[in-house]
Amino acid sequence: MTTTTTTKNQPSLLASLQSALQKRETRLSRRRLTILPPTSTDFSSNDFLSLSTSPLFRARLLAHLQSAPPRYPFASGGSRLLDGNSPYAEALDAHEGMRLSRAGKTVPFLHSSPESLEAVLTAEIAADAGIRDGSRNVFVVVESVYSMDGDIAPLREFVEVVERVLPCGNGYFVVDEAHATGVFGPGGAGVVKELGLQERMFVRVHTFGKALASHGAIVLCCPDTRDYLINYARTVIYTTAMGFPSLAAIRTAYELLSEGETEEPQATLQSLIRYLRARLASLDTLTLTLTLDEDGNPTGNPTPLFAVDHFPRSPIFSLRSPVPRHLAAACQRKGFVVRAIMAPTVPVGKERVRVCLHAGNTVEEIDGLVETIRGWLVERQSPQTQTQSQSQSQGLGLGMGQAQGEKRVARL
Ligand SMILES: Cc1ncc(COP(=O)(O)O)c(C=O)c1O
Repeated sequence: MTTTTTTKNQPSLLASLQSALQKRETRLSRRRLTILPPTSTDFSSNDFLSLSTSPLFRARLLAHLQSAPPRYPFASGGSRLLDGNSPYAEALDAHEGMRLSRAGKTVPFLHSSPESLEAVLTAEIAADAGIRDGSRNVFVVVESVYSMDGDIAPLREFVEVVERVLPCGNGYFVVDEAHATGVFGPGGAGVVKELGLQERMFVRVHTFGKALASHGAIVLCCPDTRDYLINYARTVIYTTAMGFPSLAAIRTAYELLSEGETEEPQATLQSLIRYLRARLASLDTLTLTLTLDEDGNPTGNPTPLFAVDHFPRSPIFSLRSPVPRHLAAACQRKGFVVRAIMAPTVPVGKERVRVCLHAGNTVEEIDGLVETIRGWLVERQSPQTQTQSQSQSQGLGLGMGQAQGEKRVARL
């Protein structure tokens, strides 16, 4: 237990909380729970396949719930190791999260850089005879699709590095497919499956809370690893297991995936991604630089007002801007739900408006969003605003011919 004492001169706990909140208010960074109007257009959630509003998903889930015998427990009643297990859960074999790492040392490598991974591994091998002779294990932990930038990790290149520099086979991959599940790979099975690397992965984590319209996650691993997690993963041991309605929702999503019902939304999503990418490239002529920041202070160096950062085929787009809250507010006023993502969620200087596409979005909605952004840019070109127009676009254009796996920042 932690205790704190309050004297007359010290602010009370509530006053401290209020003061912390007030600081955020002043910095315009106070978070609030919001309820979206039903007419708003979702360009923000992780519901990539729009399953959460799919009539097919709803009908199937309700049928599963209805088919439960009378008095079948809807709640789990405890962790899976105690009262929370069931034949239904065993059949789905869903595990909530995991706390896998008992690593003695963790070493970061540069984002999506096989060269950096190799340099880090080479240094560790040189420093540790155990890693060299294969008696000490190395886990390489990556996301397949990164949640903020939406870029796809170069998994094939990572595997090549690990197998080459750790020939004893003591390099193991743990891949989080949270944002790839449902979106990439055959039947939405993820990037690893798309690349045919499943036999090279030690653990794959697929979450159900994004494209699969439920919550929780599954760990795909070998039976020994599964038994190890049941014994050592604190979240499995101590967390109340999912109840029947959650399991039924996951089962519904599984069934739709395995029956091919999600192939069409998966393809629709990809076509909308290509469309938005091309439409954003049409803003190429509107390059502005900004001399004042969001609070009206001089930026020092003129900063590009708007740039698109997008990895081919990814449903996540970053509209980079030093004034993301202004841009997000302009979109929100037109009913488009997008979010400004600020530091420290992303590094300083990489603030952006994050746009997520979904299979249920329409071409008209995308047109509306892009025209809203165009209007915002044009308005900022007017003499009243503290921006300067540039006659030529800077840097790279956003091209459809971009090679897969190559990430570029387009200055629009
Ligand atoms: C990479 C990654 N993994 C796992 C999760 C956890 O997903 P959830 O909260 O849906 O369980 C998230 C959440 O955004 C994520 O970005």
